[in-house]
Amino acid sequence: MKSHLDLRACFVGFTTLVFACLSATTIAAQTSQVFRLDGGKSTYAFGVNERGELQTLYWGGRLLTQDKIPRALSLKEWASFDSSYSNTPQEYSGWGAGLFTEPALKVTFADGNRDLVLHFVNATPNGAQSLEILLKDISREVYVTLCYSMDSETGILARSASIENREKQAILLEQVAAAQWALPPSRYSLSYLTGRWAGEWTLNQEPIHPGARVIESRRGSTGHQANPWFAISRDSSQKVVGPITADEEHGEVWFGALAWSGSWRISVEQTQLDWVRVTGGFNPFDFGYKLNSGEHLETPVFYGGYSNHGLGGASRLLHRFELAHVLPHAPDPKPRPVLYNSWEATEFNVDEAGQMALAEKAASIGVDRFVMDDGWFGQRKNDHAGLGDWYVNPRKFPHGLKPLIDKVHALGMDFGLWVEPEMVNPDSDLYRKHPDWVLNFPGRPRSEQRNQLVLNLARSDVRDYVEGFLDKLLTENDIAFLKWDYNRNWSEPGWDQVPPDEQRRVYVEYIRNLYTILADLRKKHPKIEIESCSGGGGRVDLGILRFADEVWTSDNTDPFDRLTIQDGFTYAYTPQIMMAWVTDSPHWLNGRTTSLTYRMLSSMQGSLGIGANLNHWTAEDFATAKGLTAAYHAMQPTIVRGNLYRLISPRNNSPFSSTETVSRDENQAVVFAFTHSTQEGRGFPLLQLQGLNPDAEYKLTWIAGKAEGETPNTASGAWWMNHGLQLDLRGDFQAAAFRLDRQR
Ligand code: DGJ
Repeated sequence: MKSHLDLRACFVGFTTLVFACLSATTIAAQTSQVFRLDGGKSTYAFGVNERGELQTLYWGGRLLTQDKIPRALSLKEWASFDSSYSNTPQEYSGWGAGLFTEPALKVTFADGNRDLVLHFVNATPNGAQSLEILLKDISREVYVTLCYSMDSETGILARSASIENREKQAILLEQVAAAQWALPPSRYSLSYLTGRWAGEWTLNQEPIHPGARVIESRRGSTGHQANPWFAISRDSSQKVVGPITADEEHGEVWFGALAWSGSWRISVEQTQLDWVRVTGGFNPFDFGYKLNSGEHLETPVFYGGYSNHGLGGASRLLHRFELAHVLPHAPDPKPRPVLYNSWEATEFNVDEAGQMALAEKAASIGVDRFVMDDGWFGQRKNDHAGLGDWYVNPRKFPHGLKPLIDKVHALGMDFGLWVEPEMVNPDSDLYRKHPDWVLNFPGRPRSEQRNQLVLNLARSDVRDYVEGFLDKLLTENDIAFLKWDYNRNWSEPGWDQVPPDEQRRVYVEYIRNLYTILADLRKKHPKIEIESCSGGGGRVDLGILRFADEVWTSDNTDPFDRLTIQDGFTYAYTPQIMMAWVTDSPHWLNGRTTSLTYRMLSSMQGSLGIGANLNHWTAEDFATAKGLTAAYHAMQPTIVRGNLYRLISPRNNSPFSSTETVSRDENQAVVFAFTHSTQEGRGFPLLQLQGLNPDAEYKLTWIAGKAEGETPNTASGAWWMNHGLQLDLRGDFQAAAFRLDRQR
């Protein structure tokens, strides 16, 4: 959290007090304490119940300052089967005392005791912006510090925990959440994002039923399979059967995102008493963190927020928060340069002459950054060799990278380079020298994927090597941008240089070292910008985004598939970081043929890139791309930093889709619209815009396409939002775009 955090007030019992009053240390004196955080349009409150447990009290729309939050009272036992301890929604529950719901923390002590019951000790303000709560086991010297910080603008709450072992002997942490969230009984539906390589960012929506829905990665990294984001909508529908989908612009939504790039898990459970509890943090699968006496373990941050404007409102809050508090250069990260990337044009066959020729063509379109992808280093001819050997291939670049970089600069662009620092091919000098550097179990096979193995970044020598070669590369070459790739998940995650009972710390130490390398490089090379790529969108989360300026959304660059991919992506992440390249047609994945205008408009909804083989373009293609790139440059701040409205979703085989982004000052709106396939002569549905100032006048400018019938050039915000306009858009894979600029 970098700024604008606001812990407005805290209450002891029913009386407002300043933090200095919260220093009581005996549980009896604390049992009526209530803590409250207000920010944006939301309020979060929890309190200490009569047993001394920290109990969730309220999460939702903002309450008035004078509203009193009733003190915490534990929920009753349900017959003799569900204890009060299990039924009471705790802020951070220890596994003990008959807890049947998901615990936040599960511990085994040295003597075999596995019972952990956490009680409130004290509360400490941390500046004026955040609050720390100290919990302790009822008898053992295990302490948990819970950190809370609320953003005053969006009301997004950052929560994390630090576990400290003050016992004389080590303890084993078997399950460690960052935070738990709880909502009282009601009808809810859950939205979450899943996918696979080339098919990331599928939005799933389902009613929440008794039991648990678990979304997770066991892969050592964030993964394509699911993303650490959730949203829970309160259902306004009275329907008892049939699908319930969360409303895009109406209704209450609670959402969260976990800032962790390693194995993670979020479980959403409806308890037997119909509460909904969300627990998220390190994935307990194969987890086991030995915490020695005197050590502590910090969890990632689990962010949570609330909107009463549906999923659209929730994602607009998250986008704003990411720009203002998470991304490098927050609160004002620059719109991303329009880039050219060589991958789809030349794959591994890069060389000086070929890249220079592409750079010349890219510059003529108006591209800002030229990025050379895979193939420039070691003995890299294909994906069988070279990873780990980060010297410039002398056959492909006899004079090093300098001539190419100089050429790119002379063309008015800056230069970016692809790296995959965490991997090694067995066919590499690095692996021949250090076969012990990879994740492995001695004496067992080492499973390869894409002919590569994962370097064990948890080892300090490996961390130093990776940081060292990257530092050297950036020191010796004028590189503005690294595309940081990561093309496989873990297997055989052994770390045999440390004792067996410490080996599973790899799940934490690897990621911590990754973050350290990124932070160090950014410090030493303050101008460097980084893209997080993992075979597409396999490593996108609020943890890596503290160090990455953008992400590679998907290897799937089919412009039609991208509409759904990008739609899903924006539920959790801002279009500012969503890299989208224009590539060739017919597309390599689906064989689909689309016009260059359609491809350009599809990519212009995020951060624009060009990834086509420009050697095959016609003069007309260059003219089209140049015109649309100029139009994009002029509208980019609105598109990537404005308020996004997903007017018509491309999901569920919709024949149409449309997005609109409105600048924060409401002075400009940009609209994109696409057909998949129209039938029976039916036209595009009426487009009623959103988020404009109803009293302002807006002038319409077409980027591509036109309206059906007569549409005024200038009309009020009320006109565009209520009357709306009809696009003249029919046929397969057609696209239109326009902007509205405020006149007065
Ligand atoms: C996977 C990435 O997602 C692609 O864009 C490309 O960089 C390749 N790796 C290169 O090996």
